[in-house]
Amino acid sequence: MRKVAIIGVGMTKFGEHWERGYRDLVIEAGVKAIEDAGLQGNEISAGYVGSMASGSLIGQEHVGALIADQMGLNPIPVTRVEAACASGGVALRQGYLAVASGAHDIVVVGGVEKMNDLDTNTVSEILGGAGDEEWELFLGATFPGLYALMAKRHMHEYGTTEEMMAAVAVKNHEHGSRNPYAQFQNKITIDMVMKSKMVADPLKVFDCSPITDGAAVAILATLDVAKKYSSQPIEIAASAQASDTIALHSREKLSEVKATKIAAQKAYEMAGVKPKDIDVAEVHDCFTIGEILAIEDLGFFKKGEGGKASLEGKTYLNGEIPINTSGGLKAAGHPVGATGIKQAVELTWQLRGKAEGRQVDDAEIALAHNVGGSGATAVVHIFKKV
Ligand SMILES: CC(C)(COP(=O)(O)OP(=O)(O)OC[C@H]1O[C@@H](n2cnc3c(N)ncnc32)[C@H](O)[C@@H]1OP(=O)(O)O)[C@@H](O)C(=O)NCCC(=O)NCCS
Repeated sequence: MRKVAIIGVGMTKFGEHWERGYRDLVIEAGVKAIEDAGLQGNEISAGYVGSMASGSLIGQEHVGALIADQMGLNPIPVTRVEAACASGGVALRQGYLAVASGAHDIVVVGGVEKMNDLDTNTVSEILGGAGDEEWELFLGATFPGLYALMAKRHMHEYGTTEEMMAAVAVKNHEHGSRNPYAQFQNKITIDMVMKSKMVADPLKVFDCSPITDGAAVAILATLDVAKKYSSQPIEIAASAQASDTIALHSREKLSEVKATKIAAQKAYEMAGVKPKDIDVAEVHDCFTIGEILAIEDLGFFKKGEGGKASLEGKTYLNGEIPINTSGGLKAAGHPVGATGIKQAVELTWQLRGKAEGRQVDDAEIALAHNVGGSGATAVVHIFKKV
């Protein structure tokens, strides 16, 4: 396998883009990434785009072809990748594999979603398709509901409290306030989280990621080719993915995400690093409990101690392990297909030393963790400064 690097990144601001369409968002992010890489579009030989539910959300399928056409990439192959909220992370992995295998030298990977054109209940139902339609969604279980069950179990087993989960939201809004691309740039307090509207007990509005429009794009190349274009290529030192049961009730445990643990273990082995070597991580905090599960399952904290660590401030920018410097899904927003690529964009900026206002000092190794559904898919990437 050949070594692969990120040579260019770009993204739109995440948020509510009433005045712009799906294609406008992906074009903006794509042009920024191509300019950042300093290459011509015709040097790219394939593309992979993460998009979870464009058919249901905006009535547009066949988005690989749409993007190839609108981005002026014809006739190269552009393939849509769908893995629910992990669509972006899995698209990144497909691009990585295409370059590592020798099939392509330079590829574009992207993620895009336009979610605000429908009302919340309809979006919630569409997102519910990421779980088991027959045994969860059909019976009324939405994603806040599924993650609420995981939260309740974690609280029962480890004494995790609602304040601990609220601390995750407070920290991510603080980080989001430093990120001009974030949907929410307002700071909040634990009291505000605790008093916000209940969505699915114990998860309140401020425990949830929002409904978001946005796109993110990265250009990948072999490390050899990368050095010709970029003075600061970022190596993708590991790419690993794992699967688990689609339905929550079939899992061995509700207080962990097994697919995360397996993907992380593979990624650490592949990169030759340990959790303590990671300088900064973007993890999948679709709900605050999701971040607590992630920082435990990725090995940053012992099982059951993620909530306490969050309350103690260990995951802040200047903490033991800075988590979600972008603001995470919670504050930066969660346009589902784009999130996995946005994580790579943020970490590229961190490793280049260009995450203005939220830079982690001397960041050299970074980890991205993207989850599909309630944990049926998990994908972990490790990036290294070259
Ligand atoms: C939490 C949720 C139900 C709130 O939706 P809603 O009740 O329709 O909220 P609205 O759009 O009416 O917004 C009401 C206010 O709350 C704010 N808001 C909405 N969602 C928010 C969130 N998640 N965090 C913080 N503020 C939020 C809005 O900005 C708005 O503020 P304003 O009145 O100052 O303009 C919705 O964001 C949601 O379903 N989130 C989860 C998405 C999801 O499941 N993703 C997949 C994960 S696997």
